[in-house]
Amino acid sequence: MDRTWLIIAVVLLSALTTLPANSEEADDGPARKLINFQGCKACHALEGDGGTVADSFEEIRAKLSRAEIRLKLVNTAGRHGRSMIPDFSPLSQEELETLINFIQPEP
Ligand code: HEC
Repeated sequence: MDRTWLIIAVVLLSALTTLPANSEEADDGPARKLINFQGCKACHALEGDGGTVADSFEEIRAKLSRAEIRLKLVNTAGRHGRSMIPDFSPLSQEELETLINFIQPEP
């Protein structure tokens, strides 16, 4: 009987300690879905998977601020040099935030 409670306690504790990792992955979900559904990977690679037409999301993370990323996505005025990236201004504000938060998380 004592042993049973010990086992329950250990299982509960390990479940608690793995919770943060799981919820972090869940937070990624909507952003990864958008990246897949919007076809970003036709041109950009994420974690080694995707096109090489443009820089990977890892490279973009290393060089651009959140504001710069937003300007690239909302391309109503054709702001890009090579301008191959589609205009993502039809996305909702929430979807844009999701993408920006994923590419360049707030410090
Ligand atoms: C048809 C190809 C294509 C698709 C699809 C595409 N991009 Fe791009 N993207 C580019 C190119 C090319 C650039 C380089 C800048 C330019 O030429 O405008 C770029 C630039 C960027 C930049 C700025 C970084 C830089 O190097 O200038 C960000 C951020 C970005 N893309 C995010 C995205 C996201 C997020 C998606 C999907 C929602 C997406 N792109 C879909 C081609 C694409």
